[in-house]
Amino acid sequence: MTGLDAVVHGANELVVGPDERGRGLETVSDGALAVVDGSVAAVGPTEEVTREYPPENAATAVDASGRAVLPGFVDPHTHALFAGDRSDEFAAKLRGKSYQDILAEGGGILRTVRAVREADDETLLSNLLGHLDTMLAHGTTTVEVKSGYGLDTETELRMLRVAERADDAHPVDVVPTFMGAHAVPEGRDADEYVDEVVDEQIPAVESQGIAEFCDVFCEEGVFSVAQSRRVLDAGREAGLTPKVHAEELAHLGGTQLAAELGAASADHLLHATDDDIAALVEAGVTPVLLPGTAFGLGAEYADAEAFLDAGAPAAVATDFNPNCHSHSVGFALSLSCVEMGLTPAEALIAGTRNAALALDRTDGLGTLRAGAPGDALVLDAPTHVHVPYQYGTNVVDTVLKGGAVVA
Ligand code: NIG
Ligand code: FE
Repeated sequence: MTGLDAVVHGANELVVGPDERGRGLETVSDGALAVVDGSVAAVGPTEEVTREYPPENAATAVDASGRAVLPGFVDPHTHALFAGDRSDEFAAKLRGKSYQDILAEGGGILRTVRAVREADDETLLSNLLGHLDTMLAHGTTTVEVKSGYGLDTETELRMLRVAERADDAHPVDVVPTFMGAHAVPEGRDADEYVDEVVDEQIPAVESQGIAEFCDVFCEEGVFSVAQSRRVLDAGREAGLTPKVHAEELAHLGGTQLAAELGAASADHLLHATDDDIAALVEAGVTPVLLPGTAFGLGAEYADAEAFLDAGAPAAVATDFNPNCHSHSVGFALSLSCVEMGLTPAEALIAGTRNAALALDRTDGLGTLRAGAPGDALVLDAPTHVHVPYQYGTNVVDTVLKGGAVVA
């Protein structure tokens, strides 16, 4: 049966999605949105939309007078499933210790791996559900979550199963990425570990059908380009679309690899060159920029304008993980404006439509166009500019997922 799930009306500014150029926004003033059977059925001036879809006939009616209505945020790069506490590493980094020093001493990712291996499934699930609650309250309606704190077949599968259970149990859509090649486990040789990822872990993930993407940390001292290619090739044969952590701490060639393999995204990209950017554009790979990570590490930021000027649909993500403990896409968008020079409109597109492209979603996710999922935010503010402008404040008042109020 057809159901009018929601009508949101009277919005001061309703953001429909990117304009034709892709760097500005298409907006409606005194705008309204009707959601039928989970998807956007109509968007436009309140008078027109409510004539066809009277709010009194809807399961949910939201008066958005004086407020902005936006597409729900899409967060296309997180390591949100973990256990343990690494806040002491934050303090150590403030005293000058580097991320690589911490990892070399068995801290960092390897410390989280020990904590995850020791945690039972219920602990992992309740940790992830807690993070999803916080993300949803900050406006995230779709989030990618990577494995990669197991680094053995059993724990990697356990992480992906927990991510699947969280997806079932929580309104936020969880998109699962297998990342067995997140670090070389303690005491192992990288090539020999890559053999395990290719010969054991990927076939096990394939047989369970519980991941959509395969990611690799292509980085100096972690996995080389050749090792990364082996992992992503094997993943692709198993039906997993490639993603690459590329050029974060050094320039290694992960971006060119992402282009060569037609990856969904290349992420971090602090040291990407103009040739790298051109290759991404040519191959249709979405760049994902993670300013929260640079902020936490006191590092330089990716050159966001270079990506946009080259015609790449640059996305922004939180990279939420124990090394970058921010759940908030809004905060990442503030950094995108202040530190990477994006306009508020460009930042908003990066955290919605372009973020959806980084997850290969082309069904209108990240927009409020007719046919898109009915995932929308009502702000406690009059325009989208307030998202990056009010840094440190959550301006999200109401969250609709598929037309139902979920926060
Ligand atoms: O994207 N770079 C590798 N992975 C994460 C960090 C994970 C961690 O430190 O636990 C990142 O920043
Ligand atoms: Fe990452």
